[in-house]
Amino acid sequence: MIDSLIHRSLRGETSRRAPFWFMRQAGRYLPEYREIRAGVKDFLSLCYNPELAAEVTIQPIRHFGMDAAIVFSDILVVPHAMGQPVSFIPGDGPKLEAIRDEARIAQLKSDRQTITSFLDPVARTLRRVRQELPAQTALIGFCGAPWTVACYMVEGKTSRDYEAARRFALEQPVAFAELIRRVTDASIEYLTMQIEAGAGVIQIFDSWAGILPEAGFRKWVIEPTLRITAAIRLRHPDVPIIGFPRGCGAMLKEYAEKTGVDGVSIDVFMPTEWARQQTSLPIQGHLDPLLLATDLPGALAETDRILKAWEGTPFIFNLGHGMLPFTPLAHVEALCRRLKGEEA
Ligand code: CP3
Repeated sequence: MIDSLIHRSLRGETSRRAPFWFMRQAGRYLPEYREIRAGVKDFLSLCYNPELAAEVTIQPIRHFGMDAAIVFSDILVVPHAMGQPVSFIPGDGPKLEAIRDEARIAQLKSDRQTITSFLDPVARTLRRVRQELPAQTALIGFCGAPWTVACYMVEGKTSRDYEAARRFALEQPVAFAELIRRVTDASIEYLTMQIEAGAGVIQIFDSWAGILPEAGFRKWVIEPTLRITAAIRLRHPDVPIIGFPRGCGAMLKEYAEKTGVDGVSIDVFMPTEWARQQTSLPIQGHLDPLLLATDLPGALAETDRILKAWEGTPFIFNLGHGMLPFTPLAHVEALCRRLKGEEA
């Protein structure tokens, strides 16, 4: 069993320094990623190529020495495995064949055999990464939360407010509940497979948690997330789970208390002091990736402020959302040195 600084934080222990990793730490801001990306047909081919996916997972660790690697994949491989066509258009994001009716939902697969055989390349990536990774580096597996994944499945693309998905949930609640049930089942099988292939920590990305009103948040964010954490805990009680309910705002406390997660990742917009008072669960977050990309002295000062706020608590340093493609390498390098307590 890997006993990383990240695991210690998620058990509620403090260490000499706060451990850190960054959402989207593998990706276009890294020249060595762009080189590999240029050699493959499309983004999904990279996700399903264990050799190359393992390489890009490890690249940021080699370059900066973060305390965790996150397996290179995407949240939308789950709908793909369930039988929904998915593609990524460069410069335009994901495209899915939008699902808006009950008959189509009834065809979606969520059984263990279908999900784990389709996503076996991700398991092979994880096995390769775990073998190559330094022993003290945690390996994070992930999935999208059912609400966020369903938003993409119904909308068919990225949207400002996912009106089609929210409408579908309100107009056809029975059909939508069936969609959420299937995505939840598939996600449980996918996460189990990732843990059995070497993931020692799980993160559940709920990028669109913040667009639901209170009742919808309970029904479509809290309930399905709890079903995932309960199922995973039953199968693998030693693997901690981080939830990232982006935009959850004032629902933070309830999310932390009722979803069964071991730690909560908070976004850029959450006021630091307020968040600290809402929950005693380990917190992960929440430097503004745009500040990091544009203003290094400002980002370092903000980093010190964030670390100070959670000093003496089991904190994991991260960004409040994914690393931006135009982030200068020198900024990431300086931030990592600061986080390790080295001279800037
Ligand atoms: O380094 C890591 O964090 C691991 C890999 C990872 C990716 N996507 C790779 C990726 C992770 C954890 C994700 C999660 C993800 N994917 C989320 C949740 C987090 C968030 O950002 O809110 C969401 C909503 C998606 C769906 C998705 N994937 C979108 C909307 C896009 C297009 C926007 C973009 O940034 O290009 C992607 C593509 C994607 N996923 C890329 C990467 C590296 C860029 C594709 C490329 O290199 O061509």
